[in-house]
Amino acid sequence: MAPVPIRTVGIIGTGVIGASWAALFLAKGLKVIVTDPAPGAEVKLRKYLQSHCSEVPNSHVSPEACLENLTFVNELDALLGKVDLIQENGPERLDFKRKLFAHLDENTPEHVLIASSSSGLPSSEFVTDCKKNPARILIGHPFNPPHLVPLVEVVPHPATGSEYVDAACQFYKSLDKEPVLVKQETPGFIANRLQAAVCAEAYSLISRGVVSAEDLDKTMTSGLGLRWALTGPIMTNTLGGGANFSHFMDHLGPALQGWLGDMEKHKFDFSPQQVDSVKDKVNDWVSQLDLKEIEANRDEALGKFVEDQQH
Ligand SMILES: NC(=O)c1ccc[n+]([C@@H]2O[C@H](COP(=O)([O-])OP(=O)(O)OC[C@H]3O[C@@H](n4cnc5c(N)ncnc54)[C@H](O)[C@@H]3O)[C@@H](O)[C@H]2O)c1
Ligand SMILES: *[C@@H]1O[C@H](CO)[C@@H](O)[C@H](O)[C@H]1NC(C)=O
Ligand SMILES: *[C@@H]1O[C@H](CO)[C@@H](O)[C@H](O)[C@H]1NC(C)=O
Repeated sequence: MAPVPIRTVGIIGTGVIGASWAALFLAKGLKVIVTDPAPGAEVKLRKYLQSHCSEVPNSHVSPEACLENLTFVNELDALLGKVDLIQENGPERLDFKRKLFAHLDENTPEHVLIASSSSGLPSSEFVTDCKKNPARILIGHPFNPPHLVPLVEVVPHPATGSEYVDAACQFYKSLDKEPVLVKQETPGFIANRLQAAVCAEAYSLISRGVVSAEDLDKTMTSGLGLRWALTGPIMTNTLGGGANFSHFMDHLGPALQGWLGDMEKHKFDFSPQQVDSVKDKVNDWVSQLDLKEIEANRDEALGKFVEDQQH
């Protein structure tokens, strides 16, 4: 059955990720119905939205009007017949998601798209008890915080229908998100695998004393990462090869291979000694800093940068 235009979104779970999705959906003019059984969840969400709606890049709605289309329901079943898409953000536990998705599948009309924000569990593992239409279930994995960072990794399971994959990508694009299709279920999807590769080498360099934690971060924020925000690693290689990726590979490939060989020799092994060493070095640095302020400054700059990129 073909998916329909998405005007009303259901959000399950309003923790870190669900609340941020709510800010985005509301700021883009959608109706949002949310549920979360935690005591005080509604008050906490409203407070969050009051201070974060205004940060959404290219918002369609004034911050004062942002909560107008928000409905909080105490029972999950109260939203199931009323939404065109569900974005699920409950706890990251297989038993929880398996039971929840069987219930969602059973109790929502067949065309309703159901996306899970899960960062680790592949949906093939939690659609096992869905009998009605598991083809409309997929992962829509955001990067924190979803109301600021455009990336969403769309990860179908082997039985997800391509029409639902297309509908999910179109929906996220309509909100100025940047969906990336992950064609095979792979632990960590794409972004977290890349992050793991870079971080493992960072931990190794810091624990070996090759560079301080502060300077490691500076290498990224003043060089590598700054450029990567504009041209990704592959385009950066292509430009570095004089607008010729083959040239880059032929001329710098062997050097890269040599560095990788050395990295393999000094691989961070997550042994207690190595972990303690990197913890000590990082904590010595960050314990002197005002982390709340750093986060707020980052998010403000991030919102402005994204808004600028989208113009
Ligand atoms: N935190 C991140 O950086 C991040 C990034 C991307 C994706 N995710 C994914 O998003 C999902 C949520 O993560 P989070 O960090 O927001 O966790 P969280 O613990 O902050 O929020 C989970 C929320 O789910 C609620 N909940 C529990 N049982 C529920 C139920 N039966 N129905 C509805 N809500 C229920 C909890 O009360 C809580 O508010 C996870 O699958 C996680 O993997 C997290
Ligand atoms: C609320 O939703 C309605 C119906 O989709 C829409 O027309 C209206 O613009 C929305 N209002 C706000 C403030 O987003
Ligand atoms: C790109 O580089 C490759 C390998 O160095 C070379 O063979 C090829 O001619 C180059 N292509 C262009 C368009 O310059």
